[in-house]
Amino acid sequence: MPEHPSDTTLVLASRNPKKSREISALLAPYGLKVVGVDQFANVPEVDEDRDSFIGNAQKKAAEVAQVVRRWTIAEDSGLCVDALNGAPGVYSARYAHEDRPDGESVDRQTQDSLNNAKLIRELSDIPRDRRTAKYICHVSVADPEGVVRLDVECACRGMIIDEPRGENGFGYDPYFSIPEYHRTFGELSGLVKNCLSHRSRAMQRLIPQLVALLAGERR
Ligand code: IMP
Repeated sequence: MPEHPSDTTLVLASRNPKKSREISALLAPYGLKVVGVDQFANVPEVDEDRDSFIGNAQKKAAEVAQVVRRWTIAEDSGLCVDALNGAPGVYSARYAHEDRPDGESVDRQTQDSLNNAKLIRELSDIPRDRRTAKYICHVSVADPEGVVRLDVECACRGMIIDEPRGENGFGYDPYFSIPEYHRTFGELSGLVKNCLSHRSRAMQRLIPQLVALLAGERR
């Protein structure tokens, strides 16, 4: 490993460019750089087949680290709606899987639109004040041998609204409103989302542990 935290580069086990951008921005002030897994040839797609955020995050971190032989950071995140017993939860990315035209694979934006349409459909009978929800983010870090060394999980609470608002963020963001700000994550700037979000909270909790772990490895 390099001598200083500022030289530390981790592999990020995600192919979602918006998520990668958020995570890079959160880690950069601490001298922690990330390179996307798409910068490496021959890393197979990890099947996110576990039934928990921790299960998928650990699996992604360990499997990618074993291929690239570097420190790897992975996260699994999703939206849990109280009135839907926590759905879509760990299945957030493929919530409306069955609504795809002829079961085709669709681009990320179309998938997001189908997911949001299903969410609003499922909530149609639920009164507004009962549409409480939380985003959850679990982050795992694996060492170059693929052993998971760190785990953190954080949440961010909000409400689901009926009509989309704002163009920022991704996924369910235009429907996820932060009551204290009277704004959705689609309306709030990336800077504000990166202070409040589940991903930001998880990274803030992770960073001191990660810095200490990497420093300890160098001794
Ligand atoms: P993953 O890539 O399997 O972790 O899928 C996470 C899914 O959860 C995304 O595709 C989104 O649908 C949803 N999600 C997670 N975090 C966010 C967020 O910050 N904003 C909006 N949607 C999110």
